Amino acid sequence: KNPVLVAPSLLAANFLELGKDVEMVNRSEADWFHLDVMDGRFVPNISYGLPVISQIKKLAKKPLDVHLMIEEPEKYAEAFKKAGADSLTVHVEACVHLHRNIQQIKNLGMRAGVALNPHTPVVMLENIIQDIDIVLVMSVNPGFGGQTFIEQTYNKIRQVKQLIADTGSTALIQVDGGVELSNAAQLIKTGANVLVSGSAIFASPDPEATIHLLKISGK
Ligand code: DX5
Ligand code: ZN
Repeated sequence: KNPVLVAPSLLAANFLELGKDVEMVNRSEADWFHLDVMDGRFVPNISYGLPVISQIKKLAKKPLDVHLMIEEPEKYAEAFKKAGADSLTVHVEACVHLHRNIQQIKNLGMRAGVALNPHTPVVMLENIIQDIDIVLVMSVNPGFGGQTFIEQTYNKIRQVKQLIADTGSTALIQVDGGVELSNAAQLIKTGANVLVSGSAIFASPDPEATIHLLKISGK
């Protein structure tokens, strides 16, 4: 069986007491911190950026998984490395020179991820799948936390899984958006390796327990 990783998205954290939420994730069974960076151009929202991530890095005891929802991500890859990113995921829709951008991320010593918007076909990964560490399948349109999971995502995961099998790629399949206890088991069964979850964790009465339940939901 594939290991299941849980990556809480701090977009849903309490920014006034961010340190407490970082410590909660440290204590929990979560595997990565998922950090959503939005530029107000690629997506219709603005989140947080480099200074906040450098501060999180000082406290975090687990890898920082940075999801860039920004145009021209190549301009900032080095800065995110310096801020403490362990993996950097860029959107295929935002990269004209995706292959070059992926090489840049790997040369900087980070795991490289590629994200697909819900409408973007899996075939877009065909010529990059062997070079990447993470495929991020968006299960909502990126830009906001707390949106409804798009059911079509299951098909998408099956297609990515097939592409990975056909090419011998070692990429992990990450699912992001509307992931919660009610769909986690089905996602894992379909082929997801990394569950990103924001509101389902941070809006729950006991976030640490919810992380535990997500972590064991495939068993
Ligand atoms: C959406 C972000 C997600 C978001 C997930 O654009 O990429 O990571 O924080 O939040 P939930 O789990 O609330 O859908
Ligand atoms: Zn994300």
